[in-house]
Amino acid sequence: FYYNGFMILLHNISQLLTLSGGPQRGHALGNLSIMPDAAVLIDGERITAVGSSADLLSAYPSAELFDAHGCVVMPGFVDPHTHLVWAGDRAAEFELRLQGKTYMEIMAAGGGILSTLKATRAASLEQLVEQSHQRAMQAFNYGTTTLEAKTGYGLDIETEIKQLQAILELNKMGPLQLIPTFMGAHAIPPEFKGDAPGYTRFLCKEALPAVKSWWQEHAPHQSLPFVDVFCEVGAFDLAQTRTILERSQLLGFPLKLHVDEFENLGGASLAAELGAASADHMVKTSLEDIQQMADSDTVAVSLPGTPFGLAQNQYTPAKAIIEADGLLALASDLNPGTTWNESMQFIIALACRYMGLTPAQAIAAVTINAAAAIQLEDQVGSIEAGKQADLLVLNMPDYRHLGYRYGTNLVSYIFKRGKLFSIG
Ligand code: NIG
Ligand code: FE
Repeated sequence: FYYNGFMILLHNISQLLTLSGGPQRGHALGNLSIMPDAAVLIDGERITAVGSSADLLSAYPSAELFDAHGCVVMPGFVDPHTHLVWAGDRAAEFELRLQGKTYMEIMAAGGGILSTLKATRAASLEQLVEQSHQRAMQAFNYGTTTLEAKTGYGLDIETEIKQLQAILELNKMGPLQLIPTFMGAHAIPPEFKGDAPGYTRFLCKEALPAVKSWWQEHAPHQSLPFVDVFCEVGAFDLAQTRTILERSQLLGFPLKLHVDEFENLGGASLAAELGAASADHMVKTSLEDIQQMADSDTVAVSLPGTPFGLAQNQYTPAKAIIEADGLLALASDLNPGTTWNESMQFIIALACRYMGLTPAQAIAAVTINAAAAIQLEDQVGSIEAGKQADLLVLNMPDYRHLGYRYGTNLVSYIFKRGKLFSIG
């Protein structure tokens, strides 16, 4: 059930985590700007006032009341890196890895991303939407209200566009809001086996212009998707990555980058140099690259679900990024190969344990800083007048229960663009 179209006063909040004041750099990370005994006024899709319960109750006597019963309220999670749209699964590869094969070995042998490519090419648009919708609803029920979703399991123009179509379709279905990324540079497809330079030329000369004109025709009122490249040994080297990103930038696409998941190739510095919105993974990143990033507005997006999912013990050096005064965000990397996990609550729990973040730091990294990683920090990621009314009512008395507890869902209600959803 939901209310819509009139003023709702969400009151009796024990701790309102406003996250006000914009993205949080370096040691400023973790400033939750908590208001005790708080209330939030929602008018239609927007937040219109934030204050004490007593003040807002007397100022807006005609608003519909929603009693938070002393729960914690915070901004909806923003998940700024996922591969949501795919068909099939890779449970057999999970077993192979447990028997000793590595992720890159499986990929080099034609499995990995290429196995999901086969299933995704074979699926109809309807099948793709239906399978991805189940994951979108899981993410939403666990508190994600905005989620970036990449293509990259087609690697031909037709299937990549089918994935973009699926993203547009899922966005219409709602309530989860999707931010699209074109990732034709996710792997080298079978048609170009052993010819990364040839596929790089194909992307620059054919795929990118085709995606741009398709988008302008089919989503004329939405800004162009991000373009993302897997900069890694066995995928795209640094020079190829630069070629693809510079061509994308010339065509007007905003940029993102997968860097240093397995090896340090210098991708993070390239992302900073080109003004990319984010550089993601950042596991094997050198201190020089970390400093280049910290000197820019490019957000370091850490994906702790990935080393966890691969049973590897090295995580993003979060403390070094904070020390360098960088911008740190967290994302799920939801994908069928390395980490099939829709829950940002679990990501917070991992970041606290393996990256040494406090709950407050992790919370800022999945809200306002995650919003900055998809260039939406003016719309989502904090509870301030004028922003989208995307809020979570969490069944816990203190914000530190996030991270501390995991494996169950702490979300009891979600407001998405002012619409109320009851969870569980
Ligand atoms: O971010 N590393 C490249 N892409 C994904 C994995 C995708 C897959 O294995 O299907 C990642 O981990
Ligand atoms: Fe990824």
